[in-house]
Amino acid sequence: MEIKVITGDIAGIEADAIIVNHFEGMASPEGETAAVDRALDGAISQLIKRGEIKGKKNEITMVHSFGKLPAARVAVVGLGKPSELSVSKVRGAVAEACRWLRAREISTIATVAQGANINDISPVDAAQAIVEGALLGTYTFRRHMTKEEDKPGEIKQLSIVGADGLKAQLEAGVNRGQITSEATNLARDMVNEPANYMTPTDMAEMATKLAKSHGMEITVIDLEQMKELGMGGLLGVSQGSRQPPKFIVLNYRGGASKEPDIALVGKGITFDSGGISIKPSEKLEEMKGDMAGGAAVMGAMSAIARLKPKINAMALIPATENLPDGNALKPGDVLTAMNGKTMEIISTDAEGRLILADALSYARKQGAKKIVDAATLTGACRIALGDICTGAFGNNQELVDRVIAAGREAGELIWQMPMYDEYAEQNKSDVADIKNVGGRLAGAITAAKFLAEFVNDAPWVHLDIAGTSLTDKERGHQIKGATGVPVRTLVNLVISLAQEGTK
Ligand code: BES
Ligand code: MN
Ligand code: ZN
Repeated sequence: MEIKVITGDIAGIEADAIIVNHFEGMASPEGETAAVDRALDGAISQLIKRGEIKGKKNEITMVHSFGKLPAARVAVVGLGKPSELSVSKVRGAVAEACRWLRAREISTIATVAQGANINDISPVDAAQAIVEGALLGTYTFRRHMTKEEDKPGEIKQLSIVGADGLKAQLEAGVNRGQITSEATNLARDMVNEPANYMTPTDMAEMATKLAKSHGMEITVIDLEQMKELGMGGLLGVSQGSRQPPKFIVLNYRGGASKEPDIALVGKGITFDSGGISIKPSEKLEEMKGDMAGGAAVMGAMSAIARLKPKINAMALIPATENLPDGNALKPGDVLTAMNGKTMEIISTDAEGRLILADALSYARKQGAKKIVDAATLTGACRIALGDICTGAFGNNQELVDRVIAAGREAGELIWQMPMYDEYAEQNKSDVADIKNVGGRLAGAITAAKFLAEFVNDAPWVHLDIAGTSLTDKERGHQIKGATGVPVRTLVNLVISLAQEGTK
């Protein structure tokens, strides 16, 4: 999709369709919608009077112009109550409108700068949200489909039309929106990709390509080096797989200090069968997406490297399959993580925390000042929060608050979960320092408490995305399949930390 900013009047633009808007509760069209309405001899006003256009959130009404405008069609999108308009509502409405128009085989679209200068929404943020709505909302994953006929149409061009004085700001927003959307769609592609096309080696190769094209440093730690470093968790989980494990380290350097200001850690299980503690086969194919945390971290780094904030960010992705074979890890085994702590295996299906134990230890060893991890860690978190909210767990309230705020801005909802010391009791082992399952109660929290053992005192937030990395419904900028959560949360967080000069 080609995206550009045009100055002038939307009523004068030639396109297959133009998108204007209407707010709930308004008796007549306003602003640019009113100008379009006049050109259409009051067609929109009449539809409002008849109650066909109500302005309800995401309502779409198509009016044909029959030669009264250069554009063939006008889509009037409802933005809900004006007082409740937000960046997320703009993103969602544009996504719905673009999908609706695409289904009608419309390929060139022009839209007003939806939301700009309403309720503190800056033109930059409005343009970014419009672009994200368009690019995220029309995402498809068709790589493995060979038939042309069931392809949805394609929107080839999107123009954002605004006043002359807004052009620079709208263009800045378009640039940012393209970067964040491409990063999110990259992560979605990785998660949607079947496990036979997204092995640990494939992830490492992708990371190497990203590093080359965006100017980041890359190190891929292989099996031999993992042994030298004592990455017992990652090695233990990988034992049952024929695929060699990879520990991917990406560094973006935009700051002055030697150490990483922030480490982004992502779980990279390219397929989770459960191992010897094998999972039931229902929906097992979804476990190709158990590297969604790693994919999100890689996507976020690609955007960070393009946006160039003044900060050092490091990404760590421990990547392996979790499969059963004669050499596989067994319940009862004891592993030693990179920081020397011993871990008793109760279930080989609680593998995410084992590989993260090494990654978090590595982040500490590198002197990371802050750590945020993203992981499809527990079914319990998905049961608790569904596919709506990511669970946040942390040891530092200020950082938790920042992560939640970064998510809100991105339209990625996050809900904080408790981390009371009492929960740590459940992870006590009779044979090792800690065990990898703390029972059925509060499974998402005991998993987070396990991770906390490898972080110690560094400010840290763990994001459990087991519920939010996939969705089975279309909703605003989200489509069925991989969501790309929390790519844009991580990007916003790093940008905001950089702007503050990293305390
Ligand atoms: N990858 C799963 C968690 C998961 C479940 C992600 C559903 C996405 C959807 C994780 O490795 C796992 O298997 N967790 C176990 C932990 C248990 C054995 C303590 C779980 O949640 O059942
Ligand atoms: Mn598992
Ligand atoms: Zn897993």
